[in-house]
Amino acid sequence: MTRPIPISALSLTPEDEARVLGVLRSGHLAQGPVVAELEAAFAGLCEVREAVAVSSGTAALEATLRALGIGAGDEVITTPFTFVATLNAILAVGAVARFADIDPSTFTIDPEAAAALVGARTAAILPVHLYGLPADLERLGALARRHGLALVEDAAQAHGARVGGRPVGSFGAGCFSLYATKNVAAGEGGIVTTDDAVLADRLRLLRNQGMRERYRYEVIGTNLRLTDLAAAVAVGQVRRLGTLTAARRANAARLRSGLAGLAGLRLPEEPAGRDHVYHQFTVRVVRSEGRDRDRLGAALARRGIATGVYYPRVVFDYECYAGHPGVVREEVPQARAAAAEVLSLPVHPALEPGDLDRIVAATTDALGG
Ligand SMILES: Cc1ncc(COP(=O)(O)O)c(C=O)c1O
Repeated sequence: MTRPIPISALSLTPEDEARVLGVLRSGHLAQGPVVAELEAAFAGLCEVREAVAVSSGTAALEATLRALGIGAGDEVITTPFTFVATLNAILAVGAVARFADIDPSTFTIDPEAAAALVGARTAAILPVHLYGLPADLERLGALARRHGLALVEDAAQAHGARVGGRPVGSFGAGCFSLYATKNVAAGEGGIVTTDDAVLADRLRLLRNQGMRERYRYEVIGTNLRLTDLAAAVAVGQVRRLGTLTAARRANAARLRSGLAGLAGLRLPEEPAGRDHVYHQFTVRVVRSEGRDRDRLGAALARRGIATGVYYPRVVFDYECYAGHPGVVREEVPQARAAAAEVLSLPVHPALEPGDLDRIVAATTDALGG
């Protein structure tokens, strides 16, 4: 039996293990010096002054919207082609989600479609850097500035990605996830990056029950703290992210050259100036050319290769959001078409050259190339 190839895998070193053990032996498991180290590493990564670690990427999004004062009566423009956390964070603060269709060549929000939704109630634009490819932050940033809107980046999948040489998470408030499968993984965790000291201060209050000093509650907060134990898993990955991302990019290049020219298969695009960090290597399996995403996924599974469908439907297309006053259903044909055709292939740094050869061969065979 050939070795199974998973869709994601951890890349931990003996130093990471020693750091975790060090925290365990210190007896200090909760938020402490290792969280502070992680925050400093993230601020460095994103070239910003402030980074605030929280308990998840979802918490990062929700707390950021709350700290920006966004809530009832406000609209947030986002993409319909995302993980549900993006939408849930908007609804959790009581705001209304408006959905701008995607640019089909990048799977990220189309700035023109976003511009068309800006109105008197718009408070923020919330692009998602899907699969590790930054949204068009230059145009979205200009749009936000023109209308005085907040820019909140859902960078859950895009640690270390750049636009025009500038890191994601430095254009607006950057909301990262440290979930177990992410490019920097802690198991669970999140972090917000910003140059805005006031926003960072509010986030620190919110995450700690509104306290700066013990039992002096300044705002109504909650517990969004990250543990030192989780931070110890992640901090080494941030420090060697350049190497980890280079491995992802090299794997993507190998897949790209091996799969080039297969009929009915579109490979991920990387527009000039937008550096992809390949959280996922997501192809389109084109229906109008007689191809079927689920058939390809099943063929790869039979040969021990895991794939993923991120995401099978547009985010608001579920019974639990039907009729919700915070969900404005828009026509989003590009997102719907993408949801029916995307398939993510393994691209993570733990892949070996033989794994990449197997993925290419199995895909080529399945598509009759
Ligand atoms: C695009 C996107 N946004 C938000 C999140 C939420 O992050 P978390 O699972 O850490 O809450 C995730 C990941 O799960 C994600 O992929």
